[in-house]
Amino acid sequence: MATTMKEFSIFSILLLLPFLASCVERQVYIIYFGEHSGEKTLHEIEETHHFYLLSVKKSKEEARSSLLYSYKNSINGFAAVLTPDEASKLSDMDEVVSVFQSHPRKYSLQTTRSWEFAGLEEGKQWNQTKKGDLLLKARYGKDIIVGLLDNGVWPESKSFSDEGLGPIPKSWKGICQAGDAFNLSHCNKKIIGARYYLKGYEQYYGPLNTTLDYRSPRDKDGHGTHTSSTVGGRRVPNASALGGFARGTASGGAQLVRLAIYKVCWAIPGQSKAEGNTCFTEDMLAAIDDAIADGVDVLSISIGTFEPTPYDEDGIAIGALHAIKKNIVVSCSAGNSGPAPSTLSNQAPWIITVGASSVDRAFVAPLLLGNGMIIEGQTVTPYKLKKKMYPLVYAAHVVAPDVPKNYIAGQCLPDSLSPAKAKGKIVLCLRGNGTRVGKGEEVKRAGGVGFILGNSPPNGAELPADAHFLPATAVDSNSAIKILQYINSTKKPMAYIIPARTVIHTKPAPFMAAFTSRGPNNITPDILKPDITAPGLNILAAWSEASSPTKLENDHRVVKYNILSGTSMSCPHVAAAAALLKAIHPTWSSAAIRSALITSAGLIDNKGKLLTDASGNLADPFQYGSGHFRPTKAADPGLVYDASYRDYLLFLCSSGVKNLDPSFKCPKVSPSTNNLNYPSLAITKLNGTVTVKRTVTNVGGRKSVYFSSVKPPLGFSVKVSPPILFFNQVGQKKSFTITVKAESEMLNMSNKDQYSFGWFTWTDGIHNVRSPMAISLA
Ligand SMILES: *[C@@H]1O[C@H](CO)[C@@H](O)[C@H](O)[C@H]1NC(C)=O
Ligand SMILES: *[C@@H]1O[C@H](CO)[C@@H](O)[C@H](O)[C@H]1NC(C)=O
Ligand SMILES: *[C@@H]1O[C@H](CO)[C@@H](O)[C@H](O)[C@H]1NC(C)=O
Ligand SMILES: *[C@@H]1O[C@H](CO)[C@@H](O)[C@H](O)[C@H]1NC(C)=O
Ligand SMILES: *[C@@H]1O[C@H](CO)[C@@H](O)[C@H](O)[C@H]1NC(C)=O
Ligand SMILES: *[C@@H]1O[C@H](CO)[C@@H](O)[C@H](O)[C@H]1NC(C)=O
Ligand SMILES: *[C@@H]1O[C@H](CO)[C@@H](O)[C@H](O)[C@H]1NC(C)=O
Ligand SMILES: *[C@@H]1O[C@H](CO)[C@@H](O)[C@H](O)[C@H]1NC(C)=O
Repeated sequence: MATTMKEFSIFSILLLLPFLASCVERQVYIIYFGEHSGEKTLHEIEETHHFYLLSVKKSKEEARSSLLYSYKNSINGFAAVLTPDEASKLSDMDEVVSVFQSHPRKYSLQTTRSWEFAGLEEGKQWNQTKKGDLLLKARYGKDIIVGLLDNGVWPESKSFSDEGLGPIPKSWKGICQAGDAFNLSHCNKKIIGARYYLKGYEQYYGPLNTTLDYRSPRDKDGHGTHTSSTVGGRRVPNASALGGFARGTASGGAQLVRLAIYKVCWAIPGQSKAEGNTCFTEDMLAAIDDAIADGVDVLSISIGTFEPTPYDEDGIAIGALHAIKKNIVVSCSAGNSGPAPSTLSNQAPWIITVGASSVDRAFVAPLLLGNGMIIEGQTVTPYKLKKKMYPLVYAAHVVAPDVPKNYIAGQCLPDSLSPAKAKGKIVLCLRGNGTRVGKGEEVKRAGGVGFILGNSPPNGAELPADAHFLPATAVDSNSAIKILQYINSTKKPMAYIIPARTVIHTKPAPFMAAFTSRGPNNITPDILKPDITAPGLNILAAWSEASSPTKLENDHRVVKYNILSGTSMSCPHVAAAAALLKAIHPTWSSAAIRSALITSAGLIDNKGKLLTDASGNLADPFQYGSGHFRPTKAADPGLVYDASYRDYLLFLCSSGVKNLDPSFKCPKVSPSTNNLNYPSLAITKLNGTVTVKRTVTNVGGRKSVYFSSVKPPLGFSVKVSPPILFFNQVGQKKSFTITVKAESEMLNMSNKDQYSFGWFTWTDGIHNVRSPMAISLA
C-alpha cells in the first residue's frame, strides 16, 4: 500500500529519483568506527579522521573540504563527500566498521485528550481508578531532559512557557544555537537547548532556500512544535484547533520536563511542505552525537525510512545504540506505511518502536443525502455550508476534458476537475494518491462548494480530521460506496454536510490506525516489533505560526494549535511516559523502562473488547506490539526484562548484522537472537521445537511469588519452566525457559509463513507481566 501513505503530510514518500541519477559520482558517505575509547582529545579525533580522508584524497585541502562532520563525542566516525572508489578503499581498512551512503536512503518525519485517555490527566479517564497519581509521583517529569530530533520548534508557543520552572539542571551541557529569527532569548528554562544540522542537506540540495525554511532551530512547518509540545508542553487552558475543535486544556505528557531541540529535517526544494520533508543520516548522527554529550535522558525521534535498512547502515539505529549505552531511552515512530505487512522502520531491539491508534474523540460532521440517508463523517474544517441541499457529484464524473475517466479520476488530483462541471456542487473524492488536503484544495479551485473525502478500502474506517479550505467531511470506505450507489441511483443527487462538532467518549477506542506500519520485523524477524501503541490519530498539539494548518502554499491561516495524525504523534507520547518513569526510577536502564512499558500495556478497548483495527477486525501484535501504553501501570511493573549494551552486541554477533562496536569481540558461540532478554518473543520458521531463555528482575515487593500462564499461539504448544518464580529481595534475578513446539497435526503447508500469536504472563496477584509471542513455521 505504498501509495496510500503518500497522503500523510508527514513521513511521506519522496520522489527524487531523476535528480539522484545525476549526483551519483560524488556522494556523502558515513565512515563509522564504533565507539570512542576515551583516550583521545577532540582535536586528536578530528586529526585521525583527516588522516583517513587524506589516505584516499589527493591533497590536504581536498581532504579538509570534503569533510562534513567529524563525530567526536560518543560516536566515532565522520561524514565526507567521496567517490565510490574512495569509499570502497576506506571500507577495506581494518578499523572501519561500516561505510554507507546517506542517499538514496531517504528519511523523513513520520494531543490533548490523549493524556486523559491514557489515564494520566484528571477528568474522565479510560478505565483508571487513581487520578493523576503517576504525574504526582513523577513530579511531572521535573528536570528530566528530553531531546527531540525533528524540524525545530516555535518557541513563542504558550506550551513552552518556563513560568515557575526552577534553574536548568546542572547535568545539562548543551547550547542554544542562534540563527534566522532565533537568538539566545528564544531558549528558556523549558526549551533549554536548540541546535540545527544541515551540512548533509546542503551538500545534496545546495544552500538552504531561506524562503522555505529558517536556517536556525525555528520551525517553519509545525511538526517539530507538535511533537515537542506533546512530550513536554505546559498546561494551556482553552486551547483548540481552528474553528474551536478539540477545545480543552492542551498539555504535554510530562509538563515539567526540559526540552532540547535538534533540528535535522528540512523542507524539500520544489515540493509543497504538505508533501513532506527530508532528514539526512549524516545530520541526524551529528545531532544524536551532540544530544548524548549534552546530557539528554530521553530521545524522541519521529523519523523513519521506507526502505528496509540494515542496522549498520541505519543512522538512527547506530546513534540509538550509542545513546542506550549511556542509558538514554530512545523512542521512535514505527512508520505510516500500513496496512501492508512488514513495513516497519526503526526495528532495532534497543529502540522503543511505537505504533499509532485512536483516542475516544471524534469531530462529527454527518452527510445528509437527498434520499434522507445520513452518513457518518468527520472533519475539523471551520467552514460551514448554508443550510440547504446542494447538487452532489463524484469527481470522476466531472473531470476536465483531457483527464481519462478511470479510477484515478475520482481522486481529485491537482488540475483534474472541470470548473464548468464542478461549480456550485459537493464533490466526492477518493483517497489514494495525492494529499488529503490537496484534494480539498482542488475541489475549491474548481469552484465546488463542499468536499467529501471518501476512504479507499485499505483506509477502512479510520477518519483523519483535516482543516480543509472549504466545507468538508471524511467518510469511511463502506460509506463512500453507499454515496456512489446513491449518485448512480438518481438523476439529481443532492447532499448537505452538517457542520462538525467535537464529541468525546466515542467507542470503540482505541483502535489501530490503518496507516500504522506493521510487523513482521524485516531486518531481524526474531525481534517482535512494533513494541507498543499510543495515540496517533487526530492529535491536538502546538503549531508553528509560520506554517498553516494544512501546510499548503495557498493556505494563509495562522493557528497556535493543530490536529495531526501519524506515528510521529504516538512516538512522543511514549517518550513522555518514559520520562515520567525515569523520574520515578532514575537508576533503571533503558531496557528496564521499555520492559515496564511493554509488559504493562493494555489490550482492551473502551467497549471491553480486544483491540481492533480501523475496519473493525481483531488487531494483532504486528500492529500494536504488546498493546496500548498504560503509563500508570508501567510505573509499577513488578518484574522487568533487563538488557545491557553488551547484550545487544551479543545479539548482533548472532544476527548476521555486522558488529557495531569493534572493541567488543564476539564469542565463538553466541546465544541465538531469540535469546536476547526481550520482553516479547518472535520465532520465525520454527522446525520442530525451540527453547529460549529469559531472565526477569524483581522490581516489585521484596517477597513475591509469580505464577506463569500461557495462551499458546494456534498450532503450537508452549511450556514455561519453572512455572513458578520465588523472589525474596528487590533486584533479584530469576531465569526461566520457554519451549515452543509445533503441533504435528498443524504442520500444514497452508500455514507456511503465517504467524500465529500468543502470550505468556507472570502474575503475583497484583502485577500482570504480559509478553506477546509471534511464531511462524518453517
Ligand atoms: C532576540 O530576538 C528578539 C525578537 O525576536 C528581540 O526582541 C531580542 O532583543 C533579541 N535578543 C537578543 C539577545 O538579541
Ligand atoms: C526559494 O523558494 C521560493 C518559494 O518556493 C521560490 O519562489 C524561489 O524561487 C526559491 N529561490 C531559489 C533561489 O531557488
Ligand atoms: C476560550 O477561547 C475562546 C476564543 O477562542 C473564547 O471565546 C472563550 O471565551 C474562551 N473561554 C474561556 C473559558 O476562557
Ligand atoms: C497512484 O499512482 C500510481 C502511478 O500513477 C499508480 O500506479 C497507482 O495505482 C496509484 N494508486 C492509487 C491508490 O490510486
Ligand atoms: C455506478 O454506475 C456505473 C455505470 O453506470 C458502474 O460502473 C459503477 O460500478 C456503479 N457504482 C456503484 C457504486 O454502484
Ligand atoms: C479495567 O481494568 C481492570 C483492572 O485492571 C480490568 O480487569 C478490566 O478488564 C478493565 N476494563 C476495561 C474496559 O478495560
Ligand atoms: C490446513 O489449514 C487450512 C487452513 O488453515 C485448513 O482449511 C485445512 O483443513 C488444513 N488441512 C489439514 C490437512 O489439516
Ligand atoms: C526440519 O528438521 C528436520 C530434521 O532436523 C529436517 O529433516 C527437515 O528438512 C527440516 N525442515 C525444514 C523445512 O527445514
